[in-house]
Amino acid sequence: MTNPITTNEATAYDQQFELSLRPQRLSQYIGQAQVKENLQIFIEAARRREECLDHVLLYGPPGLGKTTLATVIANEMDVNVRMTSGPAIERPGDLAAILNALEPGDVLFIDEIHRLPRAIEEVLYPAMEDFCLDIVVGKGPEARSIRLDLPPFTLIGATTRAGALSAPLRDRFGVLLRLEYYDEAALTEIVKRSADVFEVAIVEEAALEIAKRSRGTPRIVNRLLKRVRDFAEVLGDGAITPAIAEQALSLLQVDARGLDHIDRKLIEGMIERFRGGPVGLDTISASIGEEALTIEDVYEPYLLQIGFIQRTPRGRVATQLAYLHFGYELPDQT
Ligand code: ADE
Repeated sequence: MTNPITTNEATAYDQQFELSLRPQRLSQYIGQAQVKENLQIFIEAARRREECLDHVLLYGPPGLGKTTLATVIANEMDVNVRMTSGPAIERPGDLAAILNALEPGDVLFIDEIHRLPRAIEEVLYPAMEDFCLDIVVGKGPEARSIRLDLPPFTLIGATTRAGALSAPLRDRFGVLLRLEYYDEAALTEIVKRSADVFEVAIVEEAALEIAKRSRGTPRIVNRLLKRVRDFAEVLGDGAITPAIAEQALSLLQVDARGLDHIDRKLIEGMIERFRGGPVGLDTISASIGEEALTIEDVYEPYLLQIGFIQRTPRGRVATQLAYLHFGYELPDQT
């Protein structure tokens, strides 16, 4: 069986290196001003009352720093964070064991919490509300329920789809925080911070160019930065100049809006095969050979955000902006 729990003490060298790219404190966390401002107050209030922080639900598109923020919250509260994910918890007993091993005040982070099976969710309800576990012992008419006390803890749940969470679970979170796509200024700061961590020199305009092509997403900014750094080391003297960044990004086939070949395949498929839509998600998915869930969770949110597609009751529609960006003539309005 895979171990459903990991701690925040990364083991592999790679993970440690990755971790150093991630801010450890709120003061180092760039962007998400609204979220940070609120969190700062809630953390300060909980600390003054010497209580643990209320349960937090972080939601929003992938790659925006939900896991990072969970670690930052735990650091600010001076507690440990235990990390697991919805799909890693297979049986109620797995969750009971994780909860039972917590120290008072600990943060339990459950990524992809919308993928927790319902039977396991039900173990969470009394744990979140009253810090206890209801365990059924025995079978049939002999079955009894016994209560076990748990240490007080903070559950931080993360999800890309808050709508997929059951209402009883969603209602048990006291703090709901929606992470938004980052603007160019924040992403540029993240590029510069990460370049510092890598000890690589970068020109401001090159940092901005990488930021512009990162779909509002720190995870993508850091990935592109690593690849551009490879080009800078092999083709140049190691410093990231605008010319190197430009060359690397075009070889990586990331266009001026940060769209990659899958975005292109998606939009071109809609335009060429379905006259721009409306077309249902499953139909597009089958036609381009990408999983519907991946399209919906990973690609579509950004394309919606920049107004390249719209969702209508009859399906997805490619907008004029998408036609123009990909060099298509606008369709007749007749
Ligand atoms: N690295 C990844 N996300 C970050 C953020 N929001 N702030 C600073 N560094 C980051």
